[in-house]
Amino acid sequence: MKLRSQEWYGKNDKDGFCHRSWMKNQGYPHDVFTGRPVIGICNTFSELNPCNGHFRELAEWVKRGVWEAGGFPLEFPVMSLGESQLRPTAMLFRNLASMDVEESIRGNPIDGVVLMMGCDKTTPSLLMGAASCDLPTIGLSGGPMLKGIHHGHELGSGTSLLKMADELAAGRLPLCEFLDAESAMNRSKGHCMTMGTASSMASMVEALGISLPENAAIPAVDARRNTLAQMTGRRIVDMVREDLRMSKILTRAAFENAIFNNAAIGGSSNAVIHLLALARRVGVPLSLDDWDRLGSSLPCLVNLLPSGEHLMEDFYYAGGVPVVLRELAEAGVLNRNALTANGRTVWENVAKAECWNRDVIRPFSHPFKAHAGIAVLRGNIAPNGCVIKPSAASEHLLQHRGRAVVFENVEQLHAQVVDENLEIDERCVMVLKNCGPRGYPGMAEVGNMPLPPKLLRRGINDMVRISDARMSGTAYGTVLLHVSPEAAAGGPLALVQTGDMINLDVPARKVCLEVEDRVLEQRRAMWTPPAMPARGWTKLYVDHVLQAHEGADLDFLVGSSGSAVPRESH
Ligand code: FES
Repeated sequence: MKLRSQEWYGKNDKDGFCHRSWMKNQGYPHDVFTGRPVIGICNTFSELNPCNGHFRELAEWVKRGVWEAGGFPLEFPVMSLGESQLRPTAMLFRNLASMDVEESIRGNPIDGVVLMMGCDKTTPSLLMGAASCDLPTIGLSGGPMLKGIHHGHELGSGTSLLKMADELAAGRLPLCEFLDAESAMNRSKGHCMTMGTASSMASMVEALGISLPENAAIPAVDARRNTLAQMTGRRIVDMVREDLRMSKILTRAAFENAIFNNAAIGGSSNAVIHLLALARRVGVPLSLDDWDRLGSSLPCLVNLLPSGEHLMEDFYYAGGVPVVLRELAEAGVLNRNALTANGRTVWENVAKAECWNRDVIRPFSHPFKAHAGIAVLRGNIAPNGCVIKPSAASEHLLQHRGRAVVFENVEQLHAQVVDENLEIDERCVMVLKNCGPRGYPGMAEVGNMPLPPKLLRRGINDMVRISDARMSGTAYGTVLLHVSPEAAAGGPLALVQTGDMINLDVPARKVCLEVEDRVLEQRRAMWTPPAMPARGWTKLYVDHVLQAHEGADLDFLVGSSGSAVPRESH
């Protein structure tokens, strides 16, 4: 089999000289250019992305494995999206980072790729970009942090912060305690250690079969994470020799397995958008309704924050994703024959997985929560759908009728929600507009709106909330997200006014604005779209971003261009 990299390094002319000679300035001997698979290590290390701050060290373990297997490892950086640092939201740059990944792979003499992923958006951006090239590719997640501990209590990244912020707003937590917890929550290398978006996406990587088993849960600082990195480096070299491309692994069966798994782990609603976008890159038909049809009736087996009480460290010690997949398979829910990166089927990988803690991973027959997968709702307020994560919602609010209290944008929300004179009580439905892909822009994680302090002080800790935004995977509540079309694109959400009645019925999959069509038409005639960015990336983004139910990719990025680049550079 002729290696792709030999199109660069296998020529004894001016171009071959150029490609090899400049690389030799780093000290590589001539024999590395003569037929070793070149493995690109796509690294999202950045000191501005603390979840991936250990990736330089982790990459060295990958390289060790690549050399051992007879490959030639070459590490390259790509745009790294730090969820905790980037404004206005890391999601605004997911597609931009995917373009960086795609073009960096395609343009370089690479035969196979290791994707180093951790913080939320680094996983979908790398998968999406690599999928549009379709070389042999394997994923390696960076692993979750150790659990937070503060004054004898466990703290889960994100989830505990949201709870403490509510307690602070209600006057039940002193500011000094709140600030003191800052150093105790995130105390080791790694990404958020709740079952937030990063852990959910790492679990998706494993369930899709695009990584080695156990990828999702080994803590970042556990020596076995380094071992996994080394084994990943060894394996990618063989994947090149076997021509095991992404498209052979990312099949419809693999995406179905990921949806099953997301329900069983109580995974993030963000996984919906990312998997829809990824499926469209590889040409697998996958719709929003597939999430409901395949996943919503499944139980949640994993007792982790934000749906439960434990953390990723506990999940790993209990057996991690392999145990969940075995439970699903034995319940007849998994596509057992889906191929994975190690060349075996998913069932061959998990058939002997043992559970070591049944409080953390429950059996399918006695689940942690019933009917926990993502539910997709429709109605005149969301003609193209919206989603809710029932496992993180309040049971008593899943059927609810209430008066809308509308916030036109996030600034108005923050200004008015703290107003003691705001006319709102716990029966109201909070509605937030203009936070979707175009409206924010970037579809920020603001859908889990803060509750009014005057209600928090009364012990109210959940209300129905509806928006075109996303919410953090670490968040919780009866929150309807991803309303499509979004308000800024002229969706009916834009027409809701304070005082309208909204009827939510999750079991019936309906959300209805009780306003006559005639009145809505009058309001539409008065509606003016919000101003859009005039230049730069944000302009390109708002001009081309698809709606949430289509994965919020850019329209011109859907699909794959393969890896061929026939033209030389000089
Ligand atoms: Fe990076 Fe949560 S902030 S994973």
